Amino acid sequence: MRILVSTAGRHGATDTLGEEMARVFEHDGVDVDIRVPESVTHVDGYDAVIIGSAVYSDRWVPAAKALVDRMSRSEHPPVWLFSCGPLHSSDRPVNVTSDAAHAVSVLHAIAHRTFPGKLDCEKLSEGERQIFENSGAVAGDFRDWVLVCNWAREILACLTAATPGS
Ligand SMILES: Cc1cc2nc3c(=O)[nH]c(=O)nc-3n(C[C@H](O)[C@H](O)[C@H](O)COP(=O)(O)O)c2cc1C
Repeated sequence: MRILVSTAGRHGATDTLGEEMARVFEHDGVDVDIRVPESVTHVDGYDAVIIGSAVYSDRWVPAAKALVDRMSRSEHPPVWLFSCGPLHSSDRPVNVTSDAAHAVSVLHAIAHRTFPGKLDCEKLSEGERQIFENSGAVAGDFRDWVLVCNWAREILACLTAATPGS
């Protein structure tokens, strides 16, 4: 089995979630490619594609949206999507961004999940810092590795059930 993981963000948190998922897949013997969305021109040969995007001001990152648009124009394997954003623990409800909802719709994605993210004030640009300071959000690392790994295992279970003998 071969899975593509493609993530986009600004400061690295989203990529780390994708990398953690890739570790779970590889641990199960799956071949995994991790590629930035800009480099994904086709998805032939993959059994599944995972696309993740950071959320900034309720929008997905442009590179992730562009990949969704490219993939929506042709045949593609099953797709799972995730958003990385909320700066609080995972037990609070979160809004699904319009970009994520659009991606689910045009790619007929199997599922979309939102995972808590990470914010390090020192990494922000001046513009980001101003938006962040006016948002009332709290800086910190809220990434939940258990949630992420469990979701990766759910994806594997789904793929394995769909591919007997794999
Ligand atoms: C300027 C700014 C705007 C943000 N807007 C949102 C938002 O609308 N919704 C959300 O859930 N998180 C928001 N966040 C939090 C980021 O999505 C979070 O820090 C995420 O982990 C960033 O991922 P990255 O490191 O891959 O870029 C915002 C953060 C900043 C700095």
